[in-house]
Amino acid sequence: MPTLPPGRVRVAVLISGSGSNMAALVDAARADDCPFEIALVLSNRPDAGGLAIAREKGVAVAAVDHRVFAKDREAHERAVDALLGEHGIEVVALAGYMRLLTPWLVQRWTGRMLNIHPSLLPKYPGLDTHARALAAGDVEAGCTVHLVTEGVDEGPVLAQAAVPMLADDTPASLAQRVLTAEHQLYPRALADFCRSQMRSL
Ligand code: GAR
Repeated sequence: MPTLPPGRVRVAVLISGSGSNMAALVDAARADDCPFEIALVLSNRPDAGGLAIAREKGVAVAAVDHRVFAKDREAHERAVDALLGEHGIEVVALAGYMRLLTPWLVQRWTGRMLNIHPSLLPKYPGLDTHARALAAGDVEAGCTVHLVTEGVDEGPVLAQAAVPMLADDTPASLAQRVLTAEHQLYPRALADFCRSQMRSL
């Protein structure tokens, strides 16, 4: 990513739902020494709860409803990408963005798109991570921030946090404990990533 100007990195957070990771990123960006700002929160679902939260926090929001584009995933992504361009976005942070991306968007943002996933990758890519970790009898669970590549949840790992699994855990209780860890991990991993990119200028 050789083109970052000095100053804070302009980040867009892409969400589909409640947006608690997005909120953690917006709150972290309030620190004077944070190397990023959240310049846009964008959802593929106009009714995503996170959009209202972002608006309340004073962040620019946008929705590009994927249903309008029917099966044409790339057309939806081109509309998303146009908005990213309009807002001068330099880095994209996926945070509960529940869309499979086409190679077109992934290639366009290679090395500049991060994702958070609720497992210790490479374990449990995809959905139902907590139920699968419980069924496997794992002793620890966790979350991963990684760069996005064409394979689902496969890109290079930037940071991970482990959380213990408890004897009486359910998928819901484990998800909540992992989510709390995500809120710590993502702001730190994104800040480290942005600082490393700024240093490479
Ligand atoms: C988070 O647990 C995130 O890791 C997960 O969705 C949740 C979104 O919560 N993402 C994935 O499963 C992507 N594969 P949030 O909307 O409250 O941040």
